[in-house]
Amino acid sequence: MANRVVLAPMAGVSNAAFRLTVKEFGAGLVYAEMISDKGLITRNKKTLELLYIDEREKPIALQIFGGEKETLVEAAKFVDQYTNADIIDINMGCPVNKVIKCEAGAKWLLDPKKVYEMVAAVVDAVKKPVTVKMRIGWDDEHIFAVENAQAIERAGGSAVAVHGRTRIQMYEGKADWDVICQVKENVDIPVIGNGDVETPQDARRMLEETGVDAVMIGRAALGNPWMIYRTVHYLETGELMPEPSVREKIDVCLLHFDRLIKLKGEYIAVREMRKHAAWYLKGIRGNGMVRNAINQAETAEELRAILNNVAAQWEEQEKPEFQAV
Ligand SMILES: Cc1cc2nc3c(=O)[nH]c(=O)nc-3n(C[C@H](O)[C@H](O)[C@H](O)COP(=O)(O)O)c2cc1C
Repeated sequence: MANRVVLAPMAGVSNAAFRLTVKEFGAGLVYAEMISDKGLITRNKKTLELLYIDEREKPIALQIFGGEKETLVEAAKFVDQYTNADIIDINMGCPVNKVIKCEAGAKWLLDPKKVYEMVAAVVDAVKKPVTVKMRIGWDDEHIFAVENAQAIERAGGSAVAVHGRTRIQMYEGKADWDVICQVKENVDIPVIGNGDVETPQDARRMLEETGVDAVMIGRAALGNPWMIYRTVHYLETGELMPEPSVREKIDVCLLHFDRLIKLKGEYIAVREMRKHAAWYLKGIRGNGMVRNAINQAETAEELRAILNNVAAQWEEQEKPEFQAV
């Protein structure tokens, strides 16, 4: 790993188009969005498409989720044999009901014994290193982060990423970095800290306060891949680089968009890009109007024209309809 800054797995976001863009901004490691074990073993077309990796993204972790040992192991073997992923990551954090009902994701957090059995079974079945990404616990009364991390270590897991929230918290409240610190103090495998790293300074604070080996960034990178290079640079030099100009932001957005078109075709890319474009435009005054226009764009040409128009208006200072706030 070139540095200690990691892109988080984000369903519907962390596909090859976004990951490569973030990688070019210096991420030391990128995680792909979670992939269903059942989808893999039934060779579901949409699920298989999630396995695509561009060599330039590496090193990369592909994340799988599932609730039964047999299917999880089978899915892991498939990723092991048929993909160029560097790491197989197991999801032990997803809080959504659909996943919990299948005994998967954060459900495991209640049972360190199951964590051990599942991770050991996967480790035994594959050649690639196996890691786990987990939340700290189920709720305030059931925080088994240390026990679960120790189970992962005993089972042969190569690293653990810890999101400092419980399942019940979903994305509310604050991530508990103290528990992340306790995990770090109680295992020897590398620990990646995650949750509420919103600025490069937060990243340094997390490294210092918890002692983790790396920081994982999720939401702060949405429409903001330069968060990664600003963090890498800040950790290396202590210097805070300025935010990019509107033109630069739009250029990166357009590059991301082109990659999404190559990956998914124009029809889907235009629709998926609507949310990304809104994130890229965050903080640019007048973006509400632009967002409406983007949501109605049907073709790549229309979407590109709207984005280029934002940049052009910004560049013409005399017509500052869209101003950076
Ligand atoms: C849109 C979205 C999708 C996510 N999908 C996944 C996922 O597929 N796998 C996973 O382990 N975590 C997933 N997460 C959780 C993030 O990886 C991360 O743990 C969480 O956002 C906290 O980090 P942050 O405060 O830096 O955003 C997702 C989060 C978001 C916002």
